[in-house]
Amino acid sequence: MSSKRQILVTNALPYANAALHLGHILEYTQTDVWVRFQRMRGHECYYLSADDAHGTAIMLKADEKGISPEQHIADMRAIHEADFRDFLISVDNYHSTHSEENREFSELIYKRLNANGHIAKREITQAFDPEKNLFLADRYIKGSCPKCKAEDQYGDNCEACGATYSPIDLINPVSVISGATPIEKASTHYFFKLPEFTQFLKDWTRSGAVQEEVANKLGEWLDSGLQEWDISRDAPYFGFEIPDAPGKYFYVWLDAPIGYMASFKNLCDREGIDFDHFWKADSSTELYHFIGKDIVNFHALFWPAMLSSANFRTPSKICVHGFVTVNGKKMSKSRGTFINARCYLDHLNPDYLRYYYASKLSGSVEDIDLNLEDFQQKVNSDLVGKVVNIASRCAKFIANGNQGVLSKNIENPALWAQVSGAAEAIANHYENRDYSKAIREIMAQADAANEYIAAKEPWKLNKQEGMQQQVQDICSLGINLFRVLMTYLKPVVPAMTEAAEAFLNDRLIWQSAAQPLVDHQLAEFKPLMLRIEKEKVDAMIEASKEETANAVQAAPVEGPLADDPIAAEINFDEFAKVDLRVARIVKAAHVEGADKLLQLTLDLGGETRQVFSGIKSSYQPEDLEGRLTVMVANLAPRKMRFGMSEGMVLAAGDKKGIYLLEPDSGAQPGQRVS
Ligand code: 2FM
Ligand code: ZN
Repeated sequence: MSSKRQILVTNALPYANAALHLGHILEYTQTDVWVRFQRMRGHECYYLSADDAHGTAIMLKADEKGISPEQHIADMRAIHEADFRDFLISVDNYHSTHSEENREFSELIYKRLNANGHIAKREITQAFDPEKNLFLADRYIKGSCPKCKAEDQYGDNCEACGATYSPIDLINPVSVISGATPIEKASTHYFFKLPEFTQFLKDWTRSGAVQEEVANKLGEWLDSGLQEWDISRDAPYFGFEIPDAPGKYFYVWLDAPIGYMASFKNLCDREGIDFDHFWKADSSTELYHFIGKDIVNFHALFWPAMLSSANFRTPSKICVHGFVTVNGKKMSKSRGTFINARCYLDHLNPDYLRYYYASKLSGSVEDIDLNLEDFQQKVNSDLVGKVVNIASRCAKFIANGNQGVLSKNIENPALWAQVSGAAEAIANHYENRDYSKAIREIMAQADAANEYIAAKEPWKLNKQEGMQQQVQDICSLGINLFRVLMTYLKPVVPAMTEAAEAFLNDRLIWQSAAQPLVDHQLAEFKPLMLRIEKEKVDAMIEASKEETANAVQAAPVEGPLADDPIAAEINFDEFAKVDLRVARIVKAAHVEGADKLLQLTLDLGGETRQVFSGIKSSYQPEDLEGRLTVMVANLAPRKMRFGMSEGMVLAAGDKKGIYLLEPDSGAQPGQRVS
């Protein structure tokens, strides 16, 4: 084996304003498997993470809860840490970007960038909320499209006609936060001169530091020209103040990746590790960042450029993964497939999901589908049906026939050589993050072991005179094969491994897999893993739906719609002008070129209407067809880029989800709603 490597590994740091969901767990599983594998191979590997605690969203969230940001991020951190712990994620340190270490490194790096002439300073004009005294990012402003006049559009582009514009061009713009009309205001911002790193980044992104598909995407950006990166935000902002720039704060994405260093420094101080050895410019150590495909620009452009200017080492590899879909579709709150980590843990064993994800991860940026039926089927058939089965079939003969002591003989040396000889190929797959190949190879070896036992039929031999030694030899080989398979699976299924190690009375390490256990005392066999029951999966989906419903009720002030300050009081006559009708959705379809819209064909009891509705994020068209809903039937028709919209369907919603109103069954299309 190659000499001992020194490796730092990180995950994307989750924002301290939301619960973790199964998408986060995909990334953490991918990383944790890799880290556990490296540790098993004897390398010095540190796994670092933290909460990403800064920014406007977190400040507003704390505000909404009526607590300080510090209290809010402390609460969230505790929740996140518990979730990761219970998914058996073996981080060596979980820290926060709102920490002294991070402040020091952020200041240090900024000062070095500045000293190197890589910081520009200039005035820009932005939308400003005069009530909240807050500059507004585009997503915090809504208004009517300056081109097609469609209402309720975000500050950067129109969903209806596709126009892009600046938020100050919106007609009747409002701050989503306060409802006030934004004004324009100038202020000085600080920029990182990213274009100066174009050649450096062209070389770096082609040096093997990212997957080829990622390098190609980055190549497009690099060729079309980089922009200077705005790294400052004005007060009030929850973050670190920029040195010598009172009232100016580092943008959250400036100090977020520096949080990797901060978390490691915190660990170094606690355990006496040499920080500089890992982070100096010419370090011989390795640095791996595991991230999702949505944050590649931050990690593969801004971050290496900053590190290079500040005279720190650059990452060895950025490992980019895709998103999680559930049953082939985007995770959806209404379908109950937006599953929080804790909701999963309340119903199912973490090893199940770890195994399933591993069996699908190939090291590419392709999305990963969690198909719940396949999940249940694969875990039951592979882990329980194949792997545990070997041990459970053999253990009782050894316990009863030889007091649990393994025999001294290897009954089938060729089979033993084959299964234990698969170690290097499997190790290569793990190293390359192609876990799906590793799992396929392990299961092929498990099949071979099962076929061997089935062919030898020790349960029959056991009933024959004089075959006792033969039974012991067969079953001992069976147990040894089980042990090798569990060694291979150890990075993936830690809880199952712990149970197997207790039974085998042995600690599983990669190098000793090649040496069989002979004349070795086993402990009592206990079931190592139970099958997944469909009822548990169904219960999780139900609980997930309920959680969503409760979250909406429990947080009435969340989102722009709930406590909408824009809604003025109206009298009854005004209300009576609104013609609300029951409508049946007879057809629903995607709209080409629209991110948020679905095209609905509505039956109003004889009359048919076409409506474009911004509910695509929460519904699949096929799930809507046949449903009843409520529509505003006398809304003046609006011409949209995609066609005429003849009314509006009613839905509750906020940034987290959209819930179409539906009358009780029995209501008839065309009926008046009042
Ligand atoms: O996208 C996110 O969830 C960010 N909080 C990830 C930050 S990764 C690192 F840079 F801190
Ligand atoms: Zn428009």
